[in-house]
Amino acid sequence: MSKLTMLTAYDFNTARALEQSGLDYILVGDSLANVFLGYKTTQEVSLDEMLMCTRAVKRGAPNTKIIGDLPYVSVSKGLTGAYEDSLKFFEAGIYALKIENAEAESLELISKLVNAGYKVLGHIGYTPQSVEKFSIQNKLITDAELLLSEAKALEKSGVIGLVLEMVPEAIAKLITDSIRVFTIGIGAGSHTTGQVLVTDDLLGRFNLFKPKFVKRYSYQYEDMLNAFKAYVSEVKSAQFPALEQVLA
Ligand code: KIV
Repeated sequence: MSKLTMLTAYDFNTARALEQSGLDYILVGDSLANVFLGYKTTQEVSLDEMLMCTRAVKRGAPNTKIIGDLPYVSVSKGLTGAYEDSLKFFEAGIYALKIENAEAESLELISKLVNAGYKVLGHIGYTPQSVEKFSIQNKLITDAELLLSEAKALEKSGVIGLVLEMVPEAIAKLITDSIRVFTIGIGAGSHTTGQVLVTDDLLGRFNLFKPKFVKRYSYQYEDMLNAFKAYVSEVKSAQFPALEQVLA
């Protein structure tokens, strides 16, 4: 069976290209906090920033299944506040909402959304919203028993699928084989039902560092820089605008 494909987008043009590529799911991930807005942690992104990007992506990819990402600020509002914020993502046109971790509060929120007819995606393993609190970043999560019980609890709460982030390949396989919903891996090897990457990593647009699990398909940062340098140089030397760019 062919694997599921997911990539992130935060803006209209990226969403357009992703829709044309035949991708299965677009994730408007809270990674936008880091790679799009330049915050140090995903905890800093606001609900309005997440919703603005979600709406832009929906305009660019009206026919693709868009996954929203409930930000830390919403999660920390408690069940009622987090539920109300979740509905705003569905009003913005998402197909499903991703909620990080399998703690009791998250499971309660997921069940409430699922019971109301909304689709939810789980996310376990490395979960930036919670680990940043404790400054444990970029660690492979290796507790197989814990991960499996979290996956089962999420399946029971009604998620349509699970993101497994930075989980050893063997554990990701065990989870994928033990639950009926799909798994989407990032840094979780090749046995998950599908794969997701942060698009800015794949494009080489974000080049401050590159995790080992990222494959670069393009080098856009360098490309952009070269274009900007060429523009600066051509304007300074009066080569731009040339005759063909002059309107009359
Ligand atoms: O926010 C995000 O982009 C994510 C992916 C890394 C899965 O959660």
